[in-house]
Amino acid sequence: MPKSHVLRFNPSKFQENILGWYHQNQRALPWRVVGRDKTDPYKVWMSEIMLQQTTVPAVIPYFLKFTEQWPTVVDLADADDAEVMAAWAGLGYYARARNLLKCARVVARELNGKFPKDLDGLLELPGVGPYTAAAIMAIAYGQPATVVDGNIERITSRIFAIEDAYPEGKKIVHQNAHRLFEKIEVWEQQDIKAYPQALMDIGAGICTPKNPSCGLCPVQRFCKAFAEGQAEAYPVKAAKKAVPIRHGDVYWITDGKGNIIVEKRPDNRMLGGMVGLPTSDWDINKGKRSENSLNLQEILQSPLKIGKIYHVFTHFRLELAVWVVAMPDLKKLLKYSPDLMIVNTHMVELNKIGLPTLFLKAARLAHKNV
Ligand code: ADE
Repeated sequence: MPKSHVLRFNPSKFQENILGWYHQNQRALPWRVVGRDKTDPYKVWMSEIMLQQTTVPAVIPYFLKFTEQWPTVVDLADADDAEVMAAWAGLGYYARARNLLKCARVVARELNGKFPKDLDGLLELPGVGPYTAAAIMAIAYGQPATVVDGNIERITSRIFAIEDAYPEGKKIVHQNAHRLFEKIEVWEQQDIKAYPQALMDIGAGICTPKNPSCGLCPVQRFCKAFAEGQAEAYPVKAAKKAVPIRHGDVYWITDGKGNIIVEKRPDNRMLGGMVGLPTSDWDINKGKRSENSLNLQEILQSPLKIGKIYHVFTHFRLELAVWVVAMPDLKKLLKYSPDLMIVNTHMVELNKIGLPTLFLKAARLAHKNV
């Protein structure tokens, strides 16, 4: 469509089209209760915290498990920390689970089991930021609020073809997102509850990051990015900076009878507190190596290099040379640090101790070569 064919943005027509689409196409999700005034703020809060973590299909079983085990905020507040953390396992980012419990305890013990009904009150709760507070206001209470998650950001940046590149452009996109919510203060509560969820469903199913289905979009005629023929180009991302590469060594120290040495990693390091194979430091510059708790150079007399493993962290790429060292009496090494342990090399055992993926890559290479 040539540029001139895009319609001037008309908020009420846009909103009408979005809501019309939603009434026909909304996803049946367990935290969406059909019927007037039935929405439970506890469930909206829980689902929104979980949905910041991962996708809708991944959240559903966790949401059902949590709300079955702890049907009210008071039940959750009374739960054992360890039980809640265990139920959260697999959702990742444990700080969020700790805040979930902290928030439940504030609501249950200081607010009489009732979630605040205003934005400022919600923002004071542990783990509740501007997004979650706005989502609770709109979805649970039917009160006007501009709700901007990643889906609504993407829709906004495409509708208005916002050229400012992220990360700076994100602020401009958020400012423009208000335009999608214009005049909702005069709506019926049910529509206020539905509208952000409608946008989210369109973002998840139609206005997707890659290969958007513009042919199915109820607001295609308002979309500048579509009119330009390049919906997928928005939101505009700044060119990625080159990722630094770090190098190091990782050691598979084996007694030849199916046992190896592992160590609990220091808390202040990458993968701190997890069990790993002994490694050198991961220096940025190739060739400059320091040693770890094992004083490796002294002990490891004749290591054999069997290959390399590669792993990508958020801020760097890691290349580790994998060395095999034969050491019939592994117990001798334990004196070097209380963090060292001997474990069986079977993959089942290595998974059981929670060996991170990086080290599992080294283990697989060692299994092939030893
Ligand atoms: N993503 C975040 N919140 C959501 C909701 N309420 N419905 C669908 N997707 C979501």
